[in-house]
Amino acid sequence: MSEAMGEAMGETMGEAMGEPDGASPLRVRIAPSGLEFAADPAQSILEAALRAGIRLPSSCRNGTCRACLSRLVSGTIRYRIEWPGLSADEKEDGYLLPCVACPQSDLEIVAPGAQRQD
Ligand code: FES
Repeated sequence: MSEAMGEAMGETMGEAMGEPDGASPLRVRIAPSGLEFAADPAQSILEAALRAGIRLPSSCRNGTCRACLSRLVSGTIRYRIEWPGLSADEKEDGYLLPCVACPQSDLEIVAPGAQRQD
């Protein structure tokens, strides 16, 4: 079987199994504001929020300053960088950095500073 054929079959199987694609974005809900927006797994939570007109606290946008520190209530994320500025204990306690965290499922996060952009 050619490589191209294997890839084509993989894509078909992925769709049949309901895996996310570009046409079905994930949802991110922010507490306590109740703001909600669509997000793509390839985008950071911060980027997706900005695209939806929602401002989250941020500064460096590269996972070092911790200005965006938020808490994950539910869902799964993947970090873009190997060493985001969180301790192992903080990760275990559910803290996340939305500027470098990409959603891998629908999410609920606690980000008290979130607000709709004017
Ligand atoms: S904006 Fe600096 S760590 Fe997220």
